Amino acid sequence: MANVTVIGAQWGDEGKGKLVDWLSNRADVVVRFQGGHNAGHTLVVGDQVYKLSLLPSGVVQGKLSVIGNGVVVDPWHLLEEIAKIGAQGITITPDLLVLADNACLILPLHRDLDQAREAAATNKIGTTGRGIGPAYEDKVGRRAIRVADLADREALEAKIDRLLAHHAPLRRGLGLPEADGAALLAELERMAPLILPFAKPAWLLLGELVKSGKRVLFEGAQGALLDVDHGTYPYVTSSNTVAGQAAAGSGLGPKGPGYVLGIVKAYTTRVGEGPFPTELTDEVGQHLGTIGKEFGTVTGRSRRCGWFDAALVRQSVALNGISGIALTKLDVLDGLATLQICTGYRLKTAEGGDQDFSYLPAGLKAQSQLSPVYEEMEGWSETTQGARSWRDLPANAVKYVRRIEELIGAPVALLSTSPQRDDTILMRDPFQD
Ligand code: IMP
Repeated sequence: MANVTVIGAQWGDEGKGKLVDWLSNRADVVVRFQGGHNAGHTLVVGDQVYKLSLLPSGVVQGKLSVIGNGVVVDPWHLLEEIAKIGAQGITITPDLLVLADNACLILPLHRDLDQAREAAATNKIGTTGRGIGPAYEDKVGRRAIRVADLADREALEAKIDRLLAHHAPLRRGLGLPEADGAALLAELERMAPLILPFAKPAWLLLGELVKSGKRVLFEGAQGALLDVDHGTYPYVTSSNTVAGQAAAGSGLGPKGPGYVLGIVKAYTTRVGEGPFPTELTDEVGQHLGTIGKEFGTVTGRSRRCGWFDAALVRQSVALNGISGIALTKLDVLDGLATLQICTGYRLKTAEGGDQDFSYLPAGLKAQSQLSPVYEEMEGWSETTQGARSWRDLPANAVKYVRRIEELIGAPVALLSTSPQRDDTILMRDPFQD
């Protein structure tokens, strides 16, 4: 298969950045297709740590990188990230970065709305506060400003008026000051010459590249359980995060995504609010958080931690058409005497009986009330950190990985044993499979 799509198979933060960096070596083009700068992708190359949230991870390898139409783009943030990565020695030119000219923009008024709503809400989503949700709302509401509009002052002015007319009552209701349309227009005009050199019909370029035999790596952000349709709604992000979105969010069509590699952490984490059946609030949860350095790249928030949820990942395998998984952070489990794997859920019925589920039911009440059904496994005392071959792994770690494969119904294609690029065990090459 020529193309590979990498997606997070849990609630995000599975370690996609490292795997995308590793795979982009084998690809010609790297494409982001959804989300925005709510993503946090950490790449460790030698003694350099790169933290990206909007730029595709391919830039670090000098690979042509595309921000697709499915992404919502904060142009101020884009320029900041270009400058930041430039200071680390990577110069982003229009030869390296392409921005879809039909992508929608995130504006300061989206961030205002995101933050003010979260501050006012009794049932908070726990968003990253970066304006992602409100920007997608304006996209679907057909009043968003798109990258191409930056080249057309007249269109821009009219669109700003329309946008502000929509936002004025929302802002008033939240006690926000009126947005300044003239200042926004001036800012966008100032930025236009900095942004427009990157703007192209990305769908056309990608189509041509694929026709000429180039290999595309699609880089998903967040995770499948944060998908606006398939996730733990409403505690989700505002985009489709599943692999199918790689087609719509890039314009490459349904054959585009190719091999789907699900990135799966050897335990489970979640940032923000929402149901989390295997969450551990005891010292094991704290241990996972400390050893796994579970703090958000974007917001610095502590991530909630819990046991591996095979039922959840099995669902993700189906939703994404996962061909194989990359299992990450196995070493965080080193030294735990016993491990639990969730194989399904049990819910108390109104009649006092039990109802079993092999998947996460859609109802929020059910999601928050069900209890996980666990299977216990023996842990291992040896270290798996930095292992570069299957033979380096303790027998119980191998058993754990094999059991995960059985329960989720997908093979492990890659095993990542540290944040370092080279500490990766390859079982199957997704680009060859
Ligand atoms: P939003 O994407 O900022 O609207 O946030 C919605 C939900 O998605 C919140 O629970 C966030 O914590 C979560 N979220 C957004 N981006 C990421 C990510 O990159 N990793 C993990 N969780 C994320």
